[in-house]
Amino acid sequence: MKHLLLSMLTAAAMILTGCETGVDSPSGFSLPEGDAAKGELVLVKYQCLSCHQLDGVEPTDVVDNPALSVKLGGKTSVIKTYAELVTSIINPSHKIAKGYPKSSLQVDGVSKMANYNDVMTVDELADLVFFLQSSYELTPYPRTQYRYYETM
Ligand code: HEC
Repeated sequence: MKHLLLSMLTAAAMILTGCETGVDSPSGFSLPEGDAAKGELVLVKYQCLSCHQLDGVEPTDVVDNPALSVKLGGKTSVIKTYAELVTSIINPSHKIAKGYPKSSLQVDGVSKMANYNDVMTVDELADLVFFLQSSYELTPYPRTQYRYYETM
């Protein structure tokens, strides 16, 4: 009996974590610790703010691109993991940002975001992601306010 329970638990655990441990899973991925202050400089260097907005960082010498003003940082109800942030930077078409008209962000499934894979160093990426992560603030998901209606 004990044995059966154990194997059932193992099976359940395998089902629950199944997608976490596949060959494509981000499990085990770890960036070296970055430096947020340097990361902010990376953001300026690559002119990310020509298509993005980030509260508290002034876009300097940047051609403003108001048609593409995807917000980075700020309040969010789901924290972005660094695996997600790295993916957004090195493979932006993998998952297109939510909350904007799709046609303004991508063409035929390809993100309009610039590609930095040939120029950005791994250290720059680590610092940038460290900085970006610190710019998000986790806020609890606002609960629906139910109202009561009188029925006749
Ligand atoms: C030419 C315009 C452009 C530039 C320059 C650009 N991005 Fe983007 N970025 C986009 C667009 C468009 C999206 C939304 C589509 C998508 O998710 O790929 C996006 C999405 C993102 C996201 C995901 C946002 C979300 O809420 O899911 C991150 C993070 C990001 N960019 C970071 C950067 C960083 C860091 C730089 C500079 C190294 C940069 N971007 C430069 C256009 C740009």
